[in-house]
Amino acid sequence: SDYRIASIPGDGIGVDVQIEARKVLERAAELHGFVLQWTEFDWSCERFAQTGTMMPDDGVQLLAGFDQILLGAVGFPGVPDHVSLWGLLIPLRRAFSQYVNLRPVRLLPGTNTVLAGRTAGELEMVIVRENSEGEYSRIGGRHGTGAGEFALQESVFTRTGVERIVRYAFELAKTRTGRVVSATKSNGIIHTMPFWDEIFAEIAAEYPDVHSEQCHIDALAARMVQQPERIDVVVASNLFGDILSDLAAAVTGGLGMAPSGNINPESTHPSMFEAVHGSAPDIAGQGIANPVAQILAGAMLLDHLGERAAAGSVSAAVETVLAAGEVATPDLGGKSTTAELGTAVAEAVKIS
Ligand code: NAI
Ligand code: MG
Repeated sequence: SDYRIASIPGDGIGVDVQIEARKVLERAAELHGFVLQWTEFDWSCERFAQTGTMMPDDGVQLLAGFDQILLGAVGFPGVPDHVSLWGLLIPLRRAFSQYVNLRPVRLLPGTNTVLAGRTAGELEMVIVRENSEGEYSRIGGRHGTGAGEFALQESVFTRTGVERIVRYAFELAKTRTGRVVSATKSNGIIHTMPFWDEIFAEIAAEYPDVHSEQCHIDALAARMVQQPERIDVVVASNLFGDILSDLAAAVTGGLGMAPSGNINPESTHPSMFEAVHGSAPDIAGQGIANPVAQILAGAMLLDHLGERAAAGSVSAAVETVLAAGEVATPDLGGKSTTAELGTAVAEAVKIS
C-alpha cells in the first residue's frame, strides 16, 4: 500500500536529521513492500523571515489529508522561540487533536550515560505527556508598571483532557510492565494538581491490574536519575512532561537519541513525529548532529501506520550500528558525520 507523508524539515539540524530519517525509512519501505509518498513543506524560521509567518494561513488544511507528518525541528536565533512554537508546532498539535505526546526512552548501546554500570536494554521508560492544554496556555498577561508590575499565567485542565491522557497511559501500561506513575505537585499547586490527582485516582480504579502511584515532580525527577529502573510509564501534564522527557532522554543517552510522537489516538487526523531535541543552532550546518532520534521518530511513524515489522527493523538497525560502535557522531564520542551514521543505519535495515 501507499502512504502519504508530509515532511517538514524546519530549521537548523532539523534539516540534516530529516534527510537521514527519510533515507532509513525509504530503505525499510522498500524491504517491507510499501511506498511512502513524501511531500515537503519549507515551513521554518527562514520562511518567517521572508513572509512573516511560519506556515501559510491554510497550513492546517494543507496537512489534513496526509497519513502522518514527520517534523525536523523549528526555532532559530533571530526569531523568538514563542513565535516558532506558537506559529507552527502548537497550532498543528491542537488542530489535529494530537493530545498525547509519547516519548519513549531506552538505554541504547554505545551511549554516554550518567547511569554507569547499567547495560543497554536494561532501562526503558515512556513519558506520556499531555499535549493540548495545561500550563501551555495563552491566558494571562502583563499588568501594572514599575515596582508594581506583574505577570499572570493561567493553566487550563479540563476533565476530558485529563481523563483521556491518563486513560491512554493506563492502556499503554497494560501492554508493558503494568506500572504507571503520575507526576503531580498538589502540595504547591492547589487548584489544578489536586484535580489532576483526583481524576488519576478515578481512572486507576478502573485498572486494578496496573500498579499506579502518584509522585511529586521534584521527587520523581530525583528518582529518574537515582532509580530509573523503578519507572516504566510516566503520565504528566504538558509542562511536567516536557521537563521529565528531556531528563529521561538525558539519563538514557542524550537528546540525540530520543524520539517523540504527537499522537491523535483515534487517527481522525494525522499524527506528527519528531525528535525531542530542537534545531541546535550551536552545531547547525556542521553535519555532526546525531540523526538517531529522528530515525527512531521515523520508526514510531511506521509503527503508527501499522507497519510494525518495518518499524522494528529500523529500531534493530539503530541498535546494531550503535553496538558495533564504528560509526558514531561526536555526541557519542565518535568522529562520524550525520550522513555517515544515517547511511550506516539504512544499510543495516534488514527483514528479520
Ligand atoms: P536543542 O535540543 O536544540 O539543543 C540542546 C543541546 O543539545 C545543544 O547543545 C545541542 O547541540 C545538543 N543537541 C540537540 N540535538 C542534538 C543532536 N541530534 N545531536 C547532537 N547534539 C544535539 O535545544 P535548545 O538549544 O534549547 O533549542 C534550540 C532551538 O530549537 C530553539 O529555537 C528552540 O525553541 C527549538 N526547539 C524546537 C523544538 C521542536 O521543534 N520541537 C524542541 C526543542 C527546542
Ligand atoms: Mg522540550
